[in-house]
Amino acid sequence: MRTTLRDIARLHAEGRRFTMVTAYDYTSARLAERAGIPLILVGDSLGMVVQGHDSTLPVTVDDIVYHARSVVRGCETPLVVGDLPFLTYATTTEAIDAARRVMAEGGCGSVKLEGGRAVAGTVRTLVDAGVPVMGHLGFTPQSQHAIGLRVQGRDAGAARALVLDALALQEAGAWAIVLELVPAPLAREVTALLDIPTIGIGAGPHTSGEVQVWHDVLGLFDAHVPRHTRRFATLGDDAVEALRALASEVEAGTFPGPENSARMDEDALAAELAGLGLPVDGESGGGNTAGKNGDRQGNAGTGGAGVGGDGAGRAEVEA
Ligand code: KIV
Repeated sequence: MRTTLRDIARLHAEGRRFTMVTAYDYTSARLAERAGIPLILVGDSLGMVVQGHDSTLPVTVDDIVYHARSVVRGCETPLVVGDLPFLTYATTTEAIDAARRVMAEGGCGSVKLEGGRAVAGTVRTLVDAGVPVMGHLGFTPQSQHAIGLRVQGRDAGAARALVLDALALQEAGAWAIVLELVPAPLAREVTALLDIPTIGIGAGPHTSGEVQVWHDVLGLFDAHVPRHTRRFATLGDDAVEALRALASEVEAGTFPGPENSARMDEDALAAELAGLGLPVDGESGGGNTAGKNGDRQGNAGTGGAGVGGDGAGRAEVEA
């Protein structure tokens, strides 16, 4: 049973903070679910961390739908929220079409879009049409060329504008609002003013929940770690170490080993090859003998190889 908006509202009413992480694929969704994360965001940050663009602008609805489908297949309990990409909700007609695709084709339970009073009418239309909408204020990456890559709402006028935007989104029916790169005191006041939960990223500890980008918190990048995040693991370094170990074992001929290899009746194989007039390589010592024949000793006549499965649909070598 997936987390519902009502579940999140209940956590919020009980004053319990909650976590949302981004995820973009099946395996990550499975891991997030195992960690008990109630909310997954298929964010347009995928344009940067998955596709390698320098902004979220190139991301399309097709991209969100593609990644959301994989995420939804990977988890049963988290509520999956999908971003509406740049300029896909400039008109209400476009917004409805984009939301329909993200929810009906992608399988998301909510959409997220950026902006305040300027998009409140669109939010109202979507909510009236049955689309749960999460807002996004503060630093809104789709407007990065207009507002710059910096903390938003620091001066009094900008803080006031952000408060009015938040109230407008709530009034329009948004069920939660992401506050990105907002001074902690402002995020605290907005959170206190609203009935709906705020979800911070770079907004201090007083929001109702926190959202973080998968690659940031798991340490998948070796480059700059933004101040608003924390590496809870160093999976990037672990992956490099593991890949180095793989390469060195492949080069040394110690991987794959007998336990990774399928056996067969080698006498029958030799007879077949001989019947075809082909040489049998087994004892010839040609090429990488250790790698090719490491499984030979003691295995002749043990019968056929087969494939099994790992429960996730992948075939695996059977003894
Ligand atoms: O796309 C995204 O990952 C986001 C989060 C940073 C909130 O919008």
